[in-house]
Amino acid sequence: TRPVKLAVIPGDGIGPEVVAEAEKVLDAVTAGSGIRFDKSRFSLGASRFLETGETLTETDLEAIKEQDAILLGAVGGVPGDPRLKNANIERGLLLKLRFELDHYVNLRPSKLYPGVPGPLAEPGDIDFVVVREGTEGPYVGNGGSIRTGTPHEVANETSVNTAFGVERVVRYAFDLAERRSKRVTLVHKTNVLVHAGGIWKRLVDDVAREHPDVAVDYVHVDAATIYLVTNPGRFDVIVTDNLFGDILTDLAGAVTGGIGLAASGNINPDGTFPSMFEPVHGSAPDIAGQQKADPTAAILSVALLLDHLGLTDEARRVTTAVEDDLAGRGGAPRTTAQIGDAIVARLQA
Ligand code: NAD
Ligand code: IPM
Ligand code: MN
Repeated sequence: TRPVKLAVIPGDGIGPEVVAEAEKVLDAVTAGSGIRFDKSRFSLGASRFLETGETLTETDLEAIKEQDAILLGAVGGVPGDPRLKNANIERGLLLKLRFELDHYVNLRPSKLYPGVPGPLAEPGDIDFVVVREGTEGPYVGNGGSIRTGTPHEVANETSVNTAFGVERVVRYAFDLAERRSKRVTLVHKTNVLVHAGGIWKRLVDDVAREHPDVAVDYVHVDAATIYLVTNPGRFDVIVTDNLFGDILTDLAGAVTGGIGLAASGNINPDGTFPSMFEPVHGSAPDIAGQQKADPTAAILSVALLLDHLGLTDEARRVTTAVEDDLAGRGGAPRTTAQIGDAIVARLQA
């Protein structure tokens, strides 16, 4: 079989540290299996910008489009760094990739693994997936400001929600629920955002009719933050827009043992473009370069990547190795590399 073309974007801050461990795990799980990954490295992010003034060149983008999948660490500099004022890393690089590669499903699973000390006293079973819309909503950049910088400034940021865009991600969420516990929760703010909320509600109701065996409910986003803390077990598949999904998944990461464990996939389900797998967290400038970052989120992102490529056995093996490692945690803190090595050792055991 032909090798899998994989773009590796280590990025900034802890990105390269966690990606190094993710690659060790990928190499270990595929060693001797006949599956080959043909990796191409892309130097992208704040550090590239500081060196060259470039954010994402057309050449890089075209080369990335030729890949089968992408593994990304994290991009972004120290918030507020004046040298990055014009870098536009988030919008010009990360969101540009998600939009150009039509990553309309931002898949963010949250599971409280046995042995992981979460912040909740009585967490119960936590195992849900946030299906975050990835190409629309308030993220489209449809905004502007007039009289900028004056006391009369007016700044607008418009949320764009198309029937096409909402329906396709809602369908994905229902299909996913069919393979899980058959519950879909729409999270939005329909009481205030009546237009955006209206289209989401209507399309969820429409698609729900095709899935009579899936239980559907609706929760306002503010209340959703309550339930994510008081009763996270009530959720199976959450479907929501780009911004609500962003916020909820940092919270979800925190309630399931920390952002260092939260993995994600930016999926193009049609297979027209490569999907991109990355931890939910950012470049964490506060701990960068110190081997303090937990690489588990990046490693679980490799499991999502393998699963997406149909390498389900390999994905399962990675997840099991991570589960074993998590179950055995406690004791002295380990470096990023020590955690990666321990997971590799579990894989090889
Ligand atoms: P962050 O996720 O980088 O950090 C938030 C907190 O979580 C910090 O205290 C950090 O130390 C901790 N943390 C994050 N990952 C961790 C890990 N693996 N192990 C242990 N602790 C971890 O969020 P931020 O500080 O808001 O953003 C920093 C930069 O990253 C910004 O430039 C932001 O735009 C960017 N960012 C990028 C991505 C991405 O590339 N996908 C995602 C989020 C933020
Ligand atoms: C994430 C990040 C990004 C987002 C930022 C860095 C653009 O927070 O992946 O969750 O808001 O989607
Ligand atoms: Mn985020």
